[in-house]
Amino acid sequence: MNFKETYDIYLKTVEEWLETNIPLGMPDRIIPPATQNAQEKIDDAMKYSLMSGGKRIRPVLSLAVCDALNGNKDIVLPFACAIELIHTYSLIHDDLPCMDNDDYRRGKPTSHKVFGEAIAVLAGDGLLNMAFEIMLEEIERCDRDNNSRVKAARMISHAAGTGGMIGGQVQDIESEQRLITYEELVFLHQKKTGALFSASVLAPALLLDADENIIAALDTYAKNIGLAFQIKDDILDLEGDSVVVGKTTGSDAINNKVTYVSLFGLKRAKELLNERIQEALYSIKTIPGNRFLGELAIFIADRNK
Ligand code: IPE
Ligand code: IPE
Ligand code: MG
Ligand code: MG
Ligand code: MG
Repeated sequence: MNFKETYDIYLKTVEEWLETNIPLGMPDRIIPPATQNAQEKIDDAMKYSLMSGGKRIRPVLSLAVCDALNGNKDIVLPFACAIELIHTYSLIHDDLPCMDNDDYRRGKPTSHKVFGEAIAVLAGDGLLNMAFEIMLEEIERCDRDNNSRVKAARMISHAAGTGGMIGGQVQDIESEQRLITYEELVFLHQKKTGALFSASVLAPALLLDADENIIAALDTYAKNIGLAFQIKDDILDLEGDSVVVGKTTGSDAINNKVTYVSLFGLKRAKELLNERIQEALYSIKTIPGNRFLGELAIFIADRNK
């Protein structure tokens, strides 16, 4: 199977799990008629953003690591999809007028453009909470004699919080006000985007009780592809085709963001991106079954959306 075929299988697995397990607009929600409209509205808003053609690269990564470790996908999938819910919430909030103020996401008008700001904020909150509900349900259902799911859930919580993604978003917003250094930019990117990439790669390793040396190799791989992903995002914001990318381009310049492109120009940003990919490829050399992970690193640099 080639890279695209394998990616599409992982993607389908994720889409089917979300379709089946996310209780949005499901008949099993018993709602008194008076509150029906409110419940439908928030369900619609959550579904609008979640089921709308994201690349699903984070859960795909989790499934690919699971396969590289010869693990059972049923253990990994709920956690992989929980991370996708957290990611989707972060996008809804990232687009709000008080953040990046963008009108277009995943090829459609942003949540606040369709549902209004209040519902967009709440839809993001709803997805975040649902992510934790999914993980806690798994723990309740499965972890009797080992706590690997607890460890994974705790690690994901940290990655999503102020020590990870949210912390990076705070630095990103602050960077609009002052010129930050290269070191600060790397740190910012590693947190705002890298943290959820690391969570996606390390969750299966924790869930499957991988050896320390494998975890260390995956950690280096994840740090490099996470950073690479955001460098490429910055490049696409400048030279990407908005219709293909599915979101507003040129947003970083309008918002005065410090990015790899604003600091170094396109040519050097692309070189630095390539350095990260080479590091990522090197880091997984000792992992058997690493082929797709290597191809995914290259895809991150080559993608046009
Ligand atoms: C966009 O993430 C936000 C960043 C962290 C750069 P993706 O490019 O993965 O967005 P979707 O999920 O495919 O829409
Ligand atoms: C956002 O980075 C990262 C998140 C945590 C959502 P960007 O603001 O560059 O992401 P896009 O370009 O809007 O997708
Ligand atoms: Mg942003
Ligand atoms: Mg943005
Ligand atoms: Mg961007």
